[in-house]
Amino acid sequence: MSGFVSFVGSGPGDPELLTLKAVDRLRRADAVLFDDLSSGPVLGYARSGADLIGVGKRAGRASPRQHHVSRLLVEYAQANQRVVRLKSGDSGLFGRLEEELIALREVGIPYEIIPGVPSAIAAAAAAGIPLTRRLSARRVQFVTGHDISGQLPEDMNLPALADPGALSVVFMGKRTFPKLYEVLHAHGLPRDTPALLAEDVSGPDQRLTRMTVAELADLLRREIGDAPALILFGPLAEE
Ligand SMILES: C[S@@+](CC[C@H](N)C(=O)[O-])C[C@H]1O[C@@H](n2cnc3c(N)ncnc32)[C@H](O)[C@@H]1O
Repeated sequence: MSGFVSFVGSGPGDPELLTLKAVDRLRRADAVLFDDLSSGPVLGYARSGADLIGVGKRAGRASPRQHHVSRLLVEYAQANQRVVRLKSGDSGLFGRLEEELIALREVGIPYEIIPGVPSAIAAAAAAGIPLTRRLSARRVQFVTGHDISGQLPEDMNLPALADPGALSVVFMGKRTFPKLYEVLHAHGLPRDTPALLAEDVSGPDQRLTRMTVAELADLLRREIGDAPALILFGPLAEE
């Protein structure tokens, strides 16, 4: 006998941004494995008595954390449990979903993927602007600001990121943004390109700060803080 795993995107944190399917699966789960950014009020939808298991960095798991999470998922499902694997935003976006899918496939455990509101989409909505500005944004690109070792990825497409017709959203990029800005400026990105720093989107400490990319690089050189954040830059609409 084996159980079933629902990968559920929790959205950016505000429980009102959960989908109806997400709420349904949370209510029916025997076990919920959640990351740091998918903890908080969304867990209130899990039924009382369900096992709630934090598997994020702050849950104190040392490397190889990912392997440990995959093993836990398999163990719960093999114990015939209905498992929800809760990941922030949309599970398929910079969420290490693939490793966990592979682990389930290897042992034949069935699963489903329920999309969530990506934090990038929620950030634009919170700022009261469209993500793509008509006539000036020809493309939107989501990139990660760090590679597996926490550094700025070396294989970033710099001309694409410096393209004035592209709106870029950097995930996990606060620490590396000053360096990214320097290389992009060298590739022609103007200093006064509009930027938005979107911290703790939809959460109690949400903070949205608009400035230029040069100012943002300066700010983040001095202090980055703990809040999860996205950096949007390019042809940003006016508020
Ligand atoms: C591992 S990635 C997961 C992204 C997620 N799957 C999504 O669709 O938004 C974590 C990063 O997403 C961004 N993020 C997630 N939730 C956020 C929030 N509520 N506010 C700001 N940034 C957020 C931050 O850049 C954070 O470091």
